[in-house]
Amino acid sequence: MIKLKSEDVATGSLVLVNKRFTVRKTAEDLVFFNESYKNITLSEKANSALHRLLDGIGAGERIVPVSGYRSFEEQADIYNASLNENGSEYTKKYVAIPGASEHQTGLAIDLALNEGEIDFICPRFPRFGICEKFRQAAADYGFIERYKEEKKAVTGISGEEWHFRYVGFPHSKIIVETGLCLEEYTEYLKAFTYPDKPLKSLGYSVYYIPCGGNETEADVEENFILSGNNADGFVLTEKENGL
Ligand code: DAL
Ligand code: ZN
Repeated sequence: MIKLKSEDVATGSLVLVNKRFTVRKTAEDLVFFNESYKNITLSEKANSALHRLLDGIGAGERIVPVSGYRSFEEQADIYNASLNENGSEYTKKYVAIPGASEHQTGLAIDLALNEGEIDFICPRFPRFGICEKFRQAAADYGFIERYKEEKKAVTGISGEEWHFRYVGFPHSKIIVETGLCLEEYTEYLKAFTYPDKPLKSLGYSVYYIPCGGNETEADVEENFILSGNNADGFVLTEKENGL
């Protein structure tokens, strides 16, 4: 039996962050991207998965990190600087308002092709070559391309082919296979309520547990991963035969 506290809704790999569901929990477990990029930090689990992914595709120095974790104040500085430099229309397309950026969770990373000057707001991460190889492999390592142009009415952000979000496996893979964005996936999972109606996929059972007040109890198996959805509940992920 585990007890889920209501504040835990705001933490975990599957938190949905946008204008409606803002960041309520500051990122913990931040680590440097690596020794060469100590100015860029990420949540430890996102960083280790990212390095496995980059190594897995043999990226070498061809892909570079541009922006990882940002505090509320950093997001505010970026937003205001962009307003001044690029104007309101552009800024609203590509920069989340402070509090509504998933960079504040430490689970998001902007990447660029390593070539000359790199645009900080909209880095170049083209749909061919090593960048496309990264994109194609990303879900195997727990990452999704978070902002698709065709989903901008749902996400509130225009297409950002450089911005990847760690959600963990198998969620990354299910999101790619269903074609949902994270807003839609969060809603979709609500049909799979614990304990009777799991979403069974890729050797995992995924359940939605609505938050039932200060403490929600769940009688879970030994091996599981839990995350809040940053809205109204939790997602429980169990692997058949343990994680
Ligand atoms: N560029 C993304 C939307 C952010 O600012 O979080
Ligand atoms: Zn980003």
